[in-house]
Amino acid sequence: MADFLISLPALEKNARLLHETGVRSGAKMLLALKAFSTTTAFDTIRPWCDGCCASGLYEARLAARHMGGHIAVFSPAYREEELHELLNIAHHIDFNSLPQWERYREACLAHPRYQNGELQLGLRVNPCYSTGHTAIYDPCVPGSRLGIPPEELCGADLRGISGLHFHTLCEQGSAELIDTFRAFEKHFGHLLASPSMRYLNLGGGHWITKPNYDRSALVQLLQAIRTDYKVEVYLEPGEAWAIHSGVLRATVLDVFPSLGYQHAILDVSASAHMPDVLEMPYRPDVYCLQPGGTGKPAVSLPGEEYSQAGESGVLPYTYRLGAPTCLAGDIIGDYSFPAPLSPGDTIILDDMAHYTIVKTTHFNGVPHPSISLLHADGSRQTVCRLNYADFEHRLG
Ligand SMILES: Cc1ncc(COP(=O)(O)O)c(C=O)c1O
Repeated sequence: MADFLISLPALEKNARLLHETGVRSGAKMLLALKAFSTTTAFDTIRPWCDGCCASGLYEARLAARHMGGHIAVFSPAYREEELHELLNIAHHIDFNSLPQWERYREACLAHPRYQNGELQLGLRVNPCYSTGHTAIYDPCVPGSRLGIPPEELCGADLRGISGLHFHTLCEQGSAELIDTFRAFEKHFGHLLASPSMRYLNLGGGHWITKPNYDRSALVQLLQAIRTDYKVEVYLEPGEAWAIHSGVLRATVLDVFPSLGYQHAILDVSASAHMPDVLEMPYRPDVYCLQPGGTGKPAVSLPGEEYSQAGESGVLPYTYRLGAPTCLAGDIIGDYSFPAPLSPGDTIILDDMAHYTIVKTTHFNGVPHPSISLLHADGSRQTVCRLNYADFEHRLG
């Protein structure tokens, strides 16, 4: 059966790096649950993390139950009953529009947790500065619904607001953050400088745990913001906590030729289990088991040896890796292998811990991969195995 396999030592390595960056800069490092929410792995992350970023009530509850620490919530719009429960568990609630803020302001300001300082309220703003290349991930595209643009804030009544939040990056470096902060400062610096401001949240999209990320430049920026504006600074990366910590292990179900291609059908679906492969689009690195092989995926099992699949046509046997669904475009990609593939072979899709497990569906009734943790001693613990009853239940 297909399996999302998450390495706890790899998660800890990321978490320690993020923690160290937080300590050096004085900024708080939150885990964005939208990227990774496997709570059975939280014991590994908790010692190194200041809390969670939640996209609404469910993630905030998950944070309160399983992580603890600071809970920062942002949603494009809150339902009334959701907001009332969030008032009891969140530490920051950031609003996406002035009408939402005005609608809930009195309830927020009257709440005992606001009055005793446990809860602070903020606005997400739009610095109107695009650094990305993929429109679907860019909250600064023309017509964006995410964040209040500068002109909408002119003359607004900000009584009760003590924080600002922007999230505009996606898989980017400190240089893009520095440029974005300058754009933010141009539009909103005067607000951040006001004595009522207590925090600035710089969102996610920071590739801090990638080897070539310039962490010193980030630390310098964060220290400067804290000193210049006298606010607490928060970062809420998601991907950076989980990058290179998980794989999706799949099995070849069938191999056949059609219309000039060799097709290999796997027991996993891009659409149902790793939608970023289609949305972004994103081409995962792929490995096969091969004695004496030279490659190694992010997460390997003791006793297994691997070869990395090449681009189409590079190695002797090229296959189009596809899903067992009806969707014609449910294709992972064309990859070449050192030896022919056969039903029963294991295929490893690399870097599949973030934005995968949190996004899966039961489309076409394809069985959901199990979820396992790989411990430091090499032991493998299955923490989730969904079955037919789960498929039937969630469809109503
Ligand atoms: C508001 C907000 N914060 C944090 C994140 C986490 O981003 P990433 O996983 O790219 O670091 C996202 C991702 O979309 C987001 O929308």
